[in-house]
Amino acid sequence: MSDVKEIFIKVINDRRSIRHYTKDRVSDEDLDIILESARQAPSGENAQPWRFIVVRDEKNKKFLSDLCRRGSGRRFTGEFLSKQMHARFTALKDEAKREAVFKKLTSGDVSAFVNESDVILIVLGKKEVWDTPFDVSAAIENMLLAITALNLGACWLVAPCIDVRDERVLNERFGITDDFKTVSIISIGHPARVPKARPRLPINELVFKEKYGVPYYSTPDNQEGK
Ligand SMILES: Cc1cc2nc3c(=O)[nH]c(=O)nc-3n(C[C@H](O)[C@H](O)[C@H](O)COP(=O)(O)O)c2cc1C
Repeated sequence: MSDVKEIFIKVINDRRSIRHYTKDRVSDEDLDIILESARQAPSGENAQPWRFIVVRDEKNKKFLSDLCRRGSGRRFTGEFLSKQMHARFTALKDEAKREAVFKKLTSGDVSAFVNESDVILIVLGKKEVWDTPFDVSAAIENMLLAITALNLGACWLVAPCIDVRDERVLNERFGITDDFKTVSIISIGHPARVPKARPRLPINELVFKEKYGVPYYSTPDNQEGK
């Protein structure tokens, strides 16, 4: 395997959502690389409907942490009420553990970590552009891979960007104009803890040959039988 191929696959496989950070600073040079990698992403009709606000000020980061706690709490409470989350809980047999996870999710504490990171990016998308969600997602993934290659860590958060009540205060504080919507929040810093890889569905359940339902791979690990 050529070096670049090996490194590319390693970066893809090593990327994790990082939710614990050291106090170390992300260098300006690294941040430039991260932001430039977003700028190079593809977008429908080359619309480039993304904008980024770099947040480093502690008061602004605390504001975002509180917003994330509130927004995530509401979202997970909503998911629980709509029964979407029940499957997640049936797998947890231990009653105390189940209660702890329930509290962590519905309180929103699960997302309050963002101000532990050195930098928070507020990612905006232009409302009038049709492909904005796809374009912005491509830019974010480029950044996440750049961050991994730089031995930094990040977490992509959407849960706090859903409620219009949060959107209103966010727009006011950061001067976001009506033609843009906050699509995501990205925390970036030096990882204090790198979690194990989360499970992925087997490849033979994901890819089909010529017709939906006809597996392209015959084994879950993609090693043989294509
Ligand atoms: C569109 C999107 C929204 C996400 N929203 C959140 C979020 O609000 N809070 C959070 O802690 N993680 C969030 N994540 C991270 C996912 O939980 C994570 O990617 C997934 O569990 C797989 O883990 P991994 O990134 O470590 O491979 C989000 C990821 C994506 C792609």
